[in-house]
Parts: sequence; C-alpha cells; structure tokens
Amino acid sequence: MKSKKIILGVTGSIAAHKAVDLASLLVKQGCAVHVVMTSDAMRFVTPLPFKTLSRNPVVTDLYDETEGWKPAHVQWADEANLLLVAPATANSLAKLALGLADNALTCMALALNSQARVLIAPAMNGKMWLHPATQENVATLKVRGVEFIGPEEGMLSCGYEGIGRLWPVEKIAHRALEMLV
Ligand SMILES: Cc1cc2nc3c(=O)[nH]c(=O)nc-3n(C[C@H](O)[C@H](O)[C@H](O)COP(=O)(O)O)c2cc1C
Repeated sequence: MKSKKIILGVTGSIAAHKAVDLASLLVKQGCAVHVVMTSDAMRFVTPLPFKTLSRNPVVTDLYDETEGWKPAHVQWADEANLLLVAPATANSLAKLALGLADNALTCMALALNSQARVLIAPAMNGKMWLHPATQENVATLKVRGVEFIGPEEGMLSCGYEGIGRLWPVEKIAHRALEMLV
C-alpha cells in the first residue's frame, strides 16, 4: 500500500473524531493519508491529531499555501488513488451530488483524476439520512460510481435510535484498502 494515496475528507459531523482513528488505521497499513477538513469539521475536532497521525499537512482552507506551485486541491486530486469522505454530512453529500466547489474538499472531489475511486461513509441524524433530498443525492452519486458504506442503525448522538451512525472505522478502513488493490 506504500504507493497508495488516500484523500480523507472529514466533514462537520459529531462523528468527526472517529476519523482520527480511521486515519491512523490507514497509515498503519502503509497508505499515504492526506486529510482535508471542512471548516465545520473543525468545530468538532482540530487538525492537529490528523497532522500528527497522518504525518502530512492537513488542508483546511482552499487558499492554504502549499509547497509547490499547484493549489492543494489540484495536486492532491491529481495524485490520489482514493477519495474517502468519512464522516460525510448531509450538507457535504448534497454539495458533492450538485458538483458545488466552495471548499477544498468539494474542489478536490470535482478535480479528482479519473482513475481514483470514491468511498463515502455518511453519518447523520436518522431523519436527515432518510430525507428524500439526501436519498436522491446518494442515488445521484451512486450512478456516478461513488460507493457508500453505512450508515448503521443504533443509538444516535442526537438522542434518537435509528439509522445514521458512522459505520465502524475498522470496516471503513478494510473496504478502503480493498478498493486500493
Ligand atoms: C452538535 C452538532 C452535530 C452535528 N452532527 C451532524 C452529523 O452527524 N451529520 C450531519 O450531516 N450534520 C451534522 N451537523 C450539522 C452540520 O455540522 C452542518 O450541516 C454543517 O453545515 C456541515 O458542514 P460541512 O458539510 O461543510 O462539514 C451537526 C451539527 C451540530 C451542531
């Protein structure tokens, strides 16, 4: 997996802290993990654990300075083997389905090289997940070849029982690794 590059997109879900373990698992498997966070993701977890565990800079802003001349959203999108969005919010799913490009993650998704695969692990309140708008966005993305993993049923952090929990990170990492073979 040494030469495999994963963009890990982290969005503004209460489950965002679980993406720290996910990044760590993927790094332990030898993947090069490059984390991009939305500004809302940073309300839940800071870039520091991602930077330390991935051993790579974290992109949090479309206008971040990079080492080379290329903006990170183009450089990373050119080189990635997999775009993994975990956790993915209803908001970011909608943006990806619509092709919006208003932050570093959504720009990377649009600029992604044609060989790269996309895996999305949603996490949200059950009503948000089951809402027809979200389900239509998921269907749109699936038609484009995007793969989904989860969400699972259980006790949600909003206090309700239902579907919307982030799939276990070990299983997300396992599927991500399978997609890289
Ligand atoms: C405490 C709290 C928890 C949240 N958890 C989720 C979540 O798990 N899933 C989700 O879709 N939105 C969640 N939201 C709402 C998102 O943070 C909000 O839609 C935000 O605009 C997402 O931005 P992003 O997709 O750019 O990261 C939560 C909001 C709050 C205040």
